[in-house]
Amino acid sequence: MELTVNGEKHQIDADENMPLLWALRDLLQLTGTKFGCGAGLCGACTVHADGMAIRACLTPVKAVAGQQITTIEGLSSAGDHPLQEAWIKHNVPQCGYCQAGQIMTAAAFLEKNPSPSEADINQAMSGNLCRCGTYPRIKAAIKDAAA
Ligand code: FES
Repeated sequence: MELTVNGEKHQIDADENMPLLWALRDLLQLTGTKFGCGAGLCGACTVHADGMAIRACLTPVKAVAGQQITTIEGLSSAGDHPLQEAWIKHNVPQCGYCQAGQIMTAAAFLEKNPSPSEADINQAMSGNLCRCGTYPRIKAAIKDAAA
């Protein structure tokens, strides 16, 4: 099966029902995408498929074959996506575990809604959990990146 990830085509030897998260982490060594709950509840595994934020833990590879998959490693060429720069400026992460998923959700959201209200941000980010409680800094960084 062929997967296109961060602009590169990869042949993977996997059952078509393998979760995309396993293919990214275990077969392609793209470990920026994290396993949190494995049940679609936390958002740590968020990546993009054709620009849409999806949960890689719940997505079988067959569902995204032929789509452009983007992980945190491919969001920008040099870690300089406006959200990544805002994340650094606002010193967002604490433990950091959920942050790739947070940024990928925010990036897909800002593509669709470049000038969001506070309520829009709250709604868009409500499915991404952070046990360290970095939510205020996440929201500040998104507002900054959107400005
Ligand atoms: Fe996929 Fe939690 S690991 S949503």
